[in-house]
Amino acid sequence: MNTNSIIIKSAGGLVKKNYSMLGDKSIAHRAILLGALGSGEYKVKNFPNNKDCSTTLNCMMQLGVDIKKIGNTLYISSPGYSNFNKKIYSLNGENSGTTVRLISGILAALGIETKIIGDESLSGRPMGRIVEPLELMGGKIKMEDNHLPLYFHNNSGMHGINYHMKVASAQVKSCILMAGFLSKGVTKVIENMYTRDHTERMFKFLGADIKIIDKEIVIRNSKLQCKDIFIPGDISSAAYLIACCILGTGCTITITDVLLNERRRKYIDILKSMGAKIKYNTTKILNEEKVGDIVVCSGILKGTSIDKNIIPYIIDEIPILSLLAAFAKGVTIFKGVEELKYKESNRIEAIIYNLNNMGVKTKFDGEDLIIYGEKKYIDKNIYIKTFNDHRIALTFLCAAVRSKETVFIDNWACTDISFPNAINYFKDFIRII
Ligand code: S3P
Repeated sequence: MNTNSIIIKSAGGLVKKNYSMLGDKSIAHRAILLGALGSGEYKVKNFPNNKDCSTTLNCMMQLGVDIKKIGNTLYISSPGYSNFNKKIYSLNGENSGTTVRLISGILAALGIETKIIGDESLSGRPMGRIVEPLELMGGKIKMEDNHLPLYFHNNSGMHGINYHMKVASAQVKSCILMAGFLSKGVTKVIENMYTRDHTERMFKFLGADIKIIDKEIVIRNSKLQCKDIFIPGDISSAAYLIACCILGTGCTITITDVLLNERRRKYIDILKSMGAKIKYNTTKILNEEKVGDIVVCSGILKGTSIDKNIIPYIIDEIPILSLLAAFAKGVTIFKGVEELKYKESNRIEAIIYNLNNMGVKTKFDGEDLIIYGEKKYIDKNIYIKTFNDHRIALTFLCAAVRSKETVFIDNWACTDISFPNAINYFKDFIRII
């Protein structure tokens, strides 16, 4: 056993508790990347202090942004994008696809000379999807074989484009919107499927000239303000607490001040359609984002069929939904989940591998993932291979709630990527042995 692994067991209790989550990872990235484009000072509250967002923070400091962190508050003083450093030896994206794909839009448009590297997982993920539109806009980027490192060179100024998205990716969309904002002329992005819209909302909040009509987003350069940002609770992290509560017996939990953006709460809408006792209530709007409370009780789910155009909304929640589907009555089908192969791990492989080890039948058919439910309890010790992927580790932690034996997780430390100190949140549902 290495020091990164843990062995856990169900705590078996009746959990009745209120939780509040640290800030949403997607919004936290944007609070630094977009927030610091303007010149001036602002605060970011409820910063999640996870590894991915700290990666963005470190990269922006290398660009010349001054950031002080006290607890979960960032005190940011930015010189504004026109005063960012123009030559940086190297930026390290570590494990964070969001950092690399979004910051690339800034680096290219400002002609900053640098290279981006990343860890083994990130170095295996596709980057051509951002390089292609950035080159069409006049960016000068060198890349071999679709992967990091990316080499950014000075250019004679980038210009806007009309771009039809080829993959349904909020990261790619955000990269083009950020580059478009910093380029000459107008940029129009036309989505093929709706994806999360935090970049658009953050730009709007900061006063940018951005217009959104259905799947078309139009942006051009304008003055940006520096404004304090409160990051709502991370709904993707809350997803695991919700799952533990559903899988438990007689539990009721409330999660307060959590992000309830329409394109991120689909996980909850799907659980509802599967018969979960769950409700949410928007209580406020913060930085153009809906925020509110979720109440959930333990219960039995039934299988469902999830359409391809819903997949981008739940892209990070498919592992945990697959686990819940394993304990539901009947079959669950996720249609068109090919993109899951290109995440921190090949998540299709990781889901199938671990569910099969638990004795759950699965099938990957064309682009569809099929989970055959009906499991009630796990009655043997199981070994979870995380593939060093935080969302796989967090998903299969929840399996312990329905296990009569132990669950070994080969790399728990990787959960720091999105959810530091996660174990403290789950201590009423599971215990470490
Ligand atoms: C993210 C978008 C998603 C998601 C990732 C965060 C974002 O990726 O999987 O964890 O913050 O924009 P894609 O948009 O590439 O699918």
